[in-house]
Amino acid sequence: MPFKRKDLLGIRDLEVHEIEHILEVAFSLKEINTRAIKKVPTLRGKTVIHLFYEPSTRTRTSFDIAAKRLSADTYSVTASTSSIVKGETTLDTLKNLEAMKPDIFIIRHSASGTLQRLAQHTTASVVNAGDGMHEHPSQALLDMMTIKEHKNRLDGLTVLIVGDITHSRVARSNIWGLTKMGARVVVCGPATLIPPRLEAMGASVSLHLREVIPEADVIMMLRLQTERQQQMLLPSLREYAIYYGLDAEKLKKAKNDVLIMHPGPINRGVEISPEVADGPHSVILDQVTNGVAVRMALLYLLAQRQ
Ligand code: CP
Repeated sequence: MPFKRKDLLGIRDLEVHEIEHILEVAFSLKEINTRAIKKVPTLRGKTVIHLFYEPSTRTRTSFDIAAKRLSADTYSVTASTSSIVKGETTLDTLKNLEAMKPDIFIIRHSASGTLQRLAQHTTASVVNAGDGMHEHPSQALLDMMTIKEHKNRLDGLTVLIVGDITHSRVARSNIWGLTKMGARVVVCGPATLIPPRLEAMGASVSLHLREVIPEADVIMMLRLQTERQQQMLLPSLREYAIYYGLDAEKLKKAKNDVLIMHPGPINRGVEISPEVADGPHSVILDQVTNGVAVRMALLYLLAQRQ
């Protein structure tokens, strides 16, 4: 079935069959990344521009690798080294780059909802690579792919998302996506980092990590997004790590086949201990590997539309 959308702005917008289709395409394209020559001509002649207003290691690199492995031409604009520092608006930047005739923009921005507005001002496809506290759809897709790869399903699983839920676009996209796909989502963190109305999104809430760990098939740990916090929301990092950090002692309460995930970047010793991050239950680097396949699938499907 063709993917009919011009843009990928969030998981909230997607139908179940669209998520299933993206994951199917990602699984089929993943094999290209294991070849001796990791390149196919699928997107030859297409141009992809990365426009990043916030730092990134995984998302930016994997979108770039994904585009290059499909033979697209890629260009990167970083806010700190572009004319954005001279006062050019986001919309003017987009319109000027659009005049160079790209096919797809990959955009990360600190303001929630900016991508929706920008997408209305360009005929090129826009992919949300993370907008403020709103959504990070390609992260949720690669997380779903990783869970499916290890558990063979999403429906019926209990996924526990732990940490700074308020400021996390990863949490939001995963709550929308996992609940659509039939998983039960439980979020856990201190009350100061749990936003209101999560139940309306389909998630349940716990303030007590030790109590909910035994229920989980998957535990997704999140970083404290101090760059988005307006005030001191925790007594101390040490106290946070004691109650909400996942370490070997708390992990003893988990199921034998629990998966440990983290979107990165990790703050070792805060939300996750090194022995858990690097331990046998961790699929954190599998998430990164699958990020390339999911982003290849997104670029391929969006380019098909054009
Ligand atoms: N997971 C994620 O978005 O990582 P980066 O910020 O490094 O892209």
